[in-house]
Amino acid sequence: MSVVPVEKKTTPAALRARKGGTPIVSLTAYTTPQARLLDKHSDLLLVGDSLGMVVYGLDSTLSVTLDMMIAHGTAVVRGANRACVIVDMPFGSYQESPAQAFANAARIMAETRCSGVKLEGGEVMAETIRFLAARGIPVLGHIGLQPQSVKALGGFHAQGRTDADAARIIADAKAVAEAGAFAMVVEGTAEPVARRVTELVPIPTIGIGASPACDGQILVTEDIVGLTDGHMPRFVKRYAELNQAIAAAAQAYADEVRARTFPGPEHCYGPSTLDKGPAKSAQRR
Ligand code: KIV
Repeated sequence: MSVVPVEKKTTPAALRARKGGTPIVSLTAYTTPQARLLDKHSDLLLVGDSLGMVVYGLDSTLSVTLDMMIAHGTAVVRGANRACVIVDMPFGSYQESPAQAFANAARIMAETRCSGVKLEGGEVMAETIRFLAARGIPVLGHIGLQPQSVKALGGFHAQGRTDADAARIIADAKAVAEAGAFAMVVEGTAEPVARRVTELVPIPTIGIGASPACDGQILVTEDIVGLTDGHMPRFVKRYAELNQAIAAAAQAYADEVRARTFPGPEHCYGPSTLDKGPAKSAQRR
């Protein structure tokens, strides 16, 4: 009998222990096949509310619902054996009170079986983070640019570029760490400020548009593989151009359908299933 090795799941506590060590590799994931592909390359898979913009074509993350996050969270957990899966709490699901945040975070954890939740906010969310962490919910903080506050900020602008703003971000970072978050995302923040935050807090910082000094990095997967278009923030690096590959495949398929060269004889069923057995697609469906 062969023994299938069981992959060890990365926990929030294991990520917390990576402060100052090997950088934490994080990517967003929204579906099971994507999670399966990314799992062995990532320490943390974030089911980000960015899915509202990337998957649903919304112009911000504000209309993303708890049900959307739970559906995608469940799909990602199904595809991840090794990476720690964290699910974003959407706008309006935690800001009202610690009790509201606990009820919704508990629902996310129970229904998706993820390892923790992420919520945006610094000092103003410290009491909520403390409430959740004390009740067994691992929390990933999120400071600096907070996309759920885009209307109040007047757009997606880098943060921490004045002394006052830098001081606010440092105070936010300290409050989130002190409240018991296991790590925090630092988004769209001036490099020296993100570096200083990383030096000051005892938990890992995971940068996106922040600093190479952060304890880890995160990017939106569709951005790095070239599946998003339009204006890209300067912090995005493209590692592949899948948009072009998909367009070329669709064009080749369309040409063959119009020329009647697809399907070929190898894609068609004969009169009897005894000669070749069922086609692959018949096995799948
Ligand atoms: O929603 C998201 O995907 C995020 C990351 C980009 C940090 O918050």
